[in-house]
Amino acid sequence: MAYLEWSRAFIGRVRRDHLGAHMSRAPELAARLASELDQGLLPFLKMGYVEPLRRDLPELIEKSRACRHMLVLGIGGSALGARAMQRAFAPGQDMPGHDGKCLWIADNVCPFQLEEWLKRLDPKDTMVVTISKSGGTIETISQYFIVKDWLQKALGEAWSQHMMVVTDLVKGFLREEAKAFGLPSLEVPDNLGGRYSALSAVGLLPAGFLGIDWEALLDGAAWLAKPLAQDPSSLARHPSFHLACWARSLEEYGYADLIFFCYEPLFATYGPWFGQLWAESLGKDGLGTMPVPATGVTDQHSVNQMFLDGQRNKACLFVTGKSPTEGPAFPGNLPEGWKFLEGKNFGALLKAEAEGTRMALCRHDTPLLHIALDDASPRSGGQLMMLLEAATVFTGWLMGINPLDQPAVELGKRLANAKLGKPGHEEAEKELQAFMAVPEEREIY
Ligand code: PA5
Repeated sequence: MAYLEWSRAFIGRVRRDHLGAHMSRAPELAARLASELDQGLLPFLKMGYVEPLRRDLPELIEKSRACRHMLVLGIGGSALGARAMQRAFAPGQDMPGHDGKCLWIADNVCPFQLEEWLKRLDPKDTMVVTISKSGGTIETISQYFIVKDWLQKALGEAWSQHMMVVTDLVKGFLREEAKAFGLPSLEVPDNLGGRYSALSAVGLLPAGFLGIDWEALLDGAAWLAKPLAQDPSSLARHPSFHLACWARSLEEYGYADLIFFCYEPLFATYGPWFGQLWAESLGKDGLGTMPVPATGVTDQHSVNQMFLDGQRNKACLFVTGKSPTEGPAFPGNLPEGWKFLEGKNFGALLKAEAEGTRMALCRHDTPLLHIALDDASPRSGGQLMMLLEAATVFTGWLMGINPLDQPAVELGKRLANAKLGKPGHEEAEKELQAFMAVPEEREIY
């Protein structure tokens, strides 16, 4: 069984009894949970979308698997979940000699990368999947225009056989495109914001393409969510709520950074996924803890010095799992001074380093909550995603902010649109011009 291990969570300034004030809000938050579930505001938790998804997803997965390559166009919550699942459950693409399916996720505005991918990919052997809840995100839609043109030039009328979309059922430019060209599509349900959507078609279509057991991901998530979704009054007993109370207390006692230290290397890309979930949900009104994704053991040799001996403002979610293998055994002819490794497997080093780092962090007064995964299976991966999503929402409620919106990031988007001359953005363009008019102070190096 997966578990949270609390014995080192109250090191440093946060004490166990500090959580009391937050825990006592359980009845109030349980009532809010019941109400928001009823209003359909928390589809990630209620998972009512799963039945139609189980019906509709297999057909698109099968169609996509006629191609060797899938090119995903999407950003933020429309990309990070798929990447986490790819690296955790279908890591073959990073292995020598890979001859299976390949998933390419275009989640940046990188002119070089897009150009190279389009040069190297064969349109006849590529399924493009454009993923956007709003259907209007400029980065994604810009890529869509370029890739659509690439497909049309290569395949003519048949281009639409190589494009699928995942978007809102009714609204948005992408939905209009799907209707206009008869593109196969899957729905992002109402109120399912990007960073809470990994366990919908958003993450599961790419996962299914890779042959990942997407139903096990859903089952794991549903198992974790079930008590909350079926009986909101169970919130007080749910580990996600306990985690939220701890996270809220950390913030109150001056812990500005929350390290996500992942010692299951296959799950390392859960770090950036969690980082976006936590930061975009909770960075509001001058509050929130900064998520800091880190990979064990790699980051022991980069940022760990700062974790250990920098400002005492860091707490840690420390993730371990049971790898699918212990790895190769050390040979029996090691030089003097290294003989202690004989008879052990490479995986023993990972475990030893995880324990060493855990203790070192605690010795440096870092409150540390250990998340011990059952194994590195999709089921465990689904459970972990749901645990962290629910904990994020409850932390936001305890903070008194809305964990489901992201108002501050809208300004940058508006200004980029203004810069490119999008109609209706004239005021924003003036603001941008005023900003850019400030005389520069260059120092040549
Ligand atoms: O979590 C979020 O809501 C965001 O990160 C979105 O996923 C991101 O902005 C992309 O939005 P969309 O899916 O509408 O293209």
